[in-house]
Amino acid sequence: MNNRCRVNEVCRVDFSYMEVLTMKGERGQKDPEDLRTRAEESLKSEPDRPDDMRLEEANSLIHELRVHQIELEMQNEELRRAQNDLEASRSRYADLYDFAPVGYLTLNKHGQIVDLNLTAARQLGIERGRLVNKHFQYCVFQPDQKEFLSHLNAIFDKRERQIAEVRLSPKDGEQLYAQLESLYLEGEDGIGLCRTSMSDVTLRRRAGEALGKAHDELERRVEERTAELGKANEELRQIPSKLIAVLEEERKRLASELHDSIGQTLAAMKFRIEMVLKLRDEGHVSTALNHLEEFVPVLQRSIEETRSIYMGLRPSMLDGIGLLATIEWLRQECMKLYPERHIELEAGIAEEAIPENLKVNIFRIAQEALNNVAKHSKAEWVDISLSRNGGEIELVVSDDGVGMDLDIIMQTSAARSLGLTSMRERAELTGGSFSIVSTPGKGTTIRACWPIQAEGRFQKGGITSLPTVSNP
Ligand SMILES: Nc1ncnc2c1ncn2[C@@H]1O[C@H](COP(=O)(O)OP(=O)(O)O)[C@@H](O)[C@H]1O
Ligand SMILES: [Mg+2]
Repeated sequence: MNNRCRVNEVCRVDFSYMEVLTMKGERGQKDPEDLRTRAEESLKSEPDRPDDMRLEEANSLIHELRVHQIELEMQNEELRRAQNDLEASRSRYADLYDFAPVGYLTLNKHGQIVDLNLTAARQLGIERGRLVNKHFQYCVFQPDQKEFLSHLNAIFDKRERQIAEVRLSPKDGEQLYAQLESLYLEGEDGIGLCRTSMSDVTLRRRAGEALGKAHDELERRVEERTAELGKANEELRQIPSKLIAVLEEERKRLASELHDSIGQTLAAMKFRIEMVLKLRDEGHVSTALNHLEEFVPVLQRSIEETRSIYMGLRPSMLDGIGLLATIEWLRQECMKLYPERHIELEAGIAEEAIPENLKVNIFRIAQEALNNVAKHSKAEWVDISLSRNGGEIELVVSDDGVGMDLDIIMQTSAARSLGLTSMRERAELTGGSFSIVSTPGKGTTIRACWPIQAEGRFQKGGITSLPTVSNP
């Protein structure tokens, strides 16, 4: 019994040594020499061993002590392992904290940084050690500091999760947008703290801004397009009145041509027939018959003039000999009237490849373009080309004449550039496009294109015949 008691006492001494060992991580390592001294002193203060202890008892005590010593060593080993595991787990959590993808900050109610992880320090662009105790407010971009302060106050007032977005101005770095998500918590000492996670949302924010810009740009384009459509609508509304104007112009031209040619010839013929009849009544029959002979060339001229007028109205040869031959006829007519212009025609398309209902429009545009060349260009060389260019039929009339200033021409009243307008409208109303390139002093090129489908049909357009505009 006495022996048990002593073993327990020795045990107590060893346990206190073990406690010291396990405490070393928290309270610092005690000096083993110091422990030894204390243990020996403790032993001295114990009552002396009874002299009458028998050898057998002593051996038993030594055995107990040995067993106990081994037990303690095993416990010691166990504790050391537990301590190592603890250390490893501690450093694992420290790594998780420090290298988390978001920044973590602990702030007191004044907004001072109590603790932060490495990610937060990197986001703020300042070494971690230099940030502790600093006011986080000053890391926030000045215009957003108020936002941050009200976020902080809300945490301590409401003690509920709060979210805010502020801009940070990292030292020597590019400004970034940070989303702050904060919780209220109480420290061991019962003092309230704010635990904040700080995520870099710059990319999201920039993407949002880019999206906003793209949206604005889209709105702007829609507005532009709406305005363009409005203008196009307006132009379309004006087309009937332009067509009426073109018709009027055409009637005027026809009236004066009829007056100048057939009207004059018929008046002359009437005068001559009256003269012949008078001669016949007076008995000068052979003189009267002689006069009749003079009628033939006058009538012949009149027939030609009439032909020229109806050819202008509807070139019947278009249906008879086709578009290419009719344009060739136009070229020759123009050269007869204006021998000083050398006009060449290049046909890069087969007659069958030209859609039937496009022919009259191509002819009218070529006719008006040649009229303009003849009347205004003073050109020496003129090229007409009708060809198939990829999926398009293209008519080009270019001259090396005086050219024009299109801005000035277009600013003048619409009625005065009816020819140019009607060419454009003919092309566009039949599903094509039209352009004029002209440089004063260097000549003019007009181009009209129509998209055609594989089988040679043109794609759009309903008007197959518009009134002619003018003749040379
Ligand atoms: N090939 C050209 N070369 C020089 N000027 C031209 C040419 N074509 C047109 N113009 C100019 O453009 C103006 C408008 O032409 P247009 O609309 O056909 O009306 P018009 O022929 O009745 O004058 C012409 O008066 C002329 O000044
Ligand atoms: Mg003209």
